[in-house]
Amino acid sequence: LPTLLIDHAHCEKKAASTAVRFLFKYPEWDSLCAAMGRLGREELLHFDLVRRELHRRGVSFRGLSASGYAAALFGASEPTRLDEMICCALIEARSHERFLRLAAAAPDAGLRSFYARLAEAEARHGDVYLALAAECGAVDARLAALVAAEGEIVARPGLPLRMHSGG
Ligand SMILES: [Fe+2]
Ligand SMILES: [Fe+2]
Repeated sequence: LPTLLIDHAHCEKKAASTAVRFLFKYPEWDSLCAAMGRLGREELLHFDLVRRELHRRGVSFRGLSASGYAAALFGASEPTRLDEMICCALIEARSHERFLRLAAAAPDAGLRSFYARLAEAEARHGDVYLALAAECGAVDARLAALVAAEGEIVARPGLPLRMHSGG
């Protein structure tokens, strides 16, 4: 549980940092900037909430090796805005799926409701990125290709056990 929460805190921090990175990368893309301003703030709020759960359990936040999941997913994508937005949508959707499972399986009621609340947010974030993807071009074919790649990556053996890896 401590490793799970530490990894989760890093995920929220990374999600916030990705949103801010897009603000720098695409300053002229108005709808993206509006969406990323909101999303970045919400992800940082999630980071604070996970840190509070760590404190509550007496666990110190620390560095943790990455699973390589996101890097592998972006590595399987094409260097287009469309693929970039779809990859982010898939990461959010996978978070949603993992949080739903944690909402059912976490060892105490507080943590179960915590993950149920966060699952709702991650589902919404997936839709935000999909809407941005739809502004870039035809989504369906690239979404199908990247869903297949993501499914293989998330189940890939040998990655360290993290929120988005470990089969
Ligand atoms: Fe989040
Ligand atoms: Fe998110």
